[in-house]
Amino acid sequence: MPLDTASFLSRLAEAFPGPALLSGTDIPARNLHDTSFLADVRPLAVLRPDTPEAVAEAVRLCAEAGATMVPQGGLTGLAGGAHPIDGAVMISLERFSGIEEIDPASSTMTVRAGTPLEVIQKAADEAGFFIPLDLGARGSCLIGGNIGTNAGGNRVIRYGMTREMILGLEYVLPDGTLVSGLNKMLKNNAGYDLKQLFIGSEGTLGIVTRAVLRMHPKPGCVNAALCGLGSYDDVLKLLSEARRGLGPMLSAFEVMWSDYWQVVTETVGVRSPLDGEHKVYVLLEAQGLDEEIDGPRFMNWIEKVYEAGIVEDAAISQSLSDVKRFWGLRDACAEFMTKLGPHCAYDIGLPVKRMDEFADACRARLIAEMPEALSVYYGHIGDGNLHIVALDRAVTEQPMDRISGIVYNTVRDFGGTVSAEHGIGLLKKRYLPYTRSAEELALMARIKAALDPAGLLNPGKVIDTPNGDKT
Ligand code: FAD
Ligand code: LAC
Ligand code: ZN
Repeated sequence: MPLDTASFLSRLAEAFPGPALLSGTDIPARNLHDTSFLADVRPLAVLRPDTPEAVAEAVRLCAEAGATMVPQGGLTGLAGGAHPIDGAVMISLERFSGIEEIDPASSTMTVRAGTPLEVIQKAADEAGFFIPLDLGARGSCLIGGNIGTNAGGNRVIRYGMTREMILGLEYVLPDGTLVSGLNKMLKNNAGYDLKQLFIGSEGTLGIVTRAVLRMHPKPGCVNAALCGLGSYDDVLKLLSEARRGLGPMLSAFEVMWSDYWQVVTETVGVRSPLDGEHKVYVLLEAQGLDEEIDGPRFMNWIEKVYEAGIVEDAAISQSLSDVKRFWGLRDACAEFMTKLGPHCAYDIGLPVKRMDEFADACRARLIAEMPEALSVYYGHIGDGNLHIVALDRAVTEQPMDRISGIVYNTVRDFGGTVSAEHGIGLLKKRYLPYTRSAEELALMARIKAALDPAGLLNPGKVIDTPNGDKT
């Protein structure tokens, strides 16, 4: 917190007249929290700079005054990374939005950090290209937040995480230095690949202002199947057959256990295209070049796995609207907050072959301690990433620490990671040592101290910092 708040605020107001600075009751409710369901915190101010130079100036003024800062994007983050800190200045990128360039020759798009992901996807589509990053929050999350979290999402199995899509990056260091590395070349081994430090570091090392994204050719056709299977062993067989039989066409392999399916079809009310009940459901998507060739190829492949008895039943898309309808069952988890009420959500990672064993163990351990516990399992299983939504139906205030303790102890027992895609933020900080060694944690702290010696940028998120909130 700066020593003299009033004079610091008037300094900010001088440098950022008009809508760029919000303070006191002018701060909208949306900036008081992210999507991690932590209690609202009213920060000192929200600064909304609209150029990279203005972001740098904002950071420089805060650093000079010793004020802590929290980078904010679309606030859809689920780990508390963008959650306000008492007395801090939020640096929101929401007014620095737009696509600066589409370069067909290098297949790149240069974007401002405040651009919503969906705007980027549409712009690529209109230009005949494809941006593979896709997640349920596509309409609200901003690309700066996606880069800050190294977001995963639905097509990692084919295209990798956000990191794989970033060729160049521009960012502001915690002292206000603007570093511009808007590289468009696929190959660039000139020294350290500095951008990697800022991708996925949850706004603790720098604030991303612009990025060069790698675009892909627009798929010529998309086919999908929603399959019902009788065992998790069959899921593993299907994954292996899909990798072999569909090769690089395989663009999503999402798995939903029957407890998830039941909540989505009964409580959320989405209609299932399959008759009957199955132990586990798989949404499988394949992107091809030409429907005339790849459509029948997909059908033949599905027929083969059906005849081999791997799949009990399957609905196969006949149109793009079917593909969307199938994804509706997977995206329906976005409704869990309204339909299930407060709950705990996890994004753990595990070796693919142990997922079902883990789900059984976790479910049993939760029920042993909380007989009314409901836990549902689903996720990007092709990437080794399992989501869990858990709650104790016997109480209204969820015992988050107790539930997290059970889930993360089980993750540790299975040799998994406490976060496969949403990041550590505030919620998982105490569990980070379950996944990272003491040496790795010490190295993280050294990197943080080297870039942010005063501990002013998003302190207390991911790891403890000198000024940080030691939660
Ligand atoms: P915010 O929540 O605003 O910020 C997230 C983190 O990034 C914070 O630590 C913040 O400080 C930092 N940050 C924000 N902007 C910048 C910047 N310019 N520079 C540096 N750091 C910055 N996530 C997945 O990975 N995969 C999914 O499939 C997925 N599905 C989701 C579905 C729903 C319905 C919801 C609500 C969330 C989902 N998420 C998913 C989580 C979330 O959408 C992602 O983490 C997303 O990348 C966050 O983007 P944001 O703009 O909302 O960032
Ligand atoms: C999903 C989010 C929760 O995959 O990451 O639905
Ligand atoms: Zn996910």
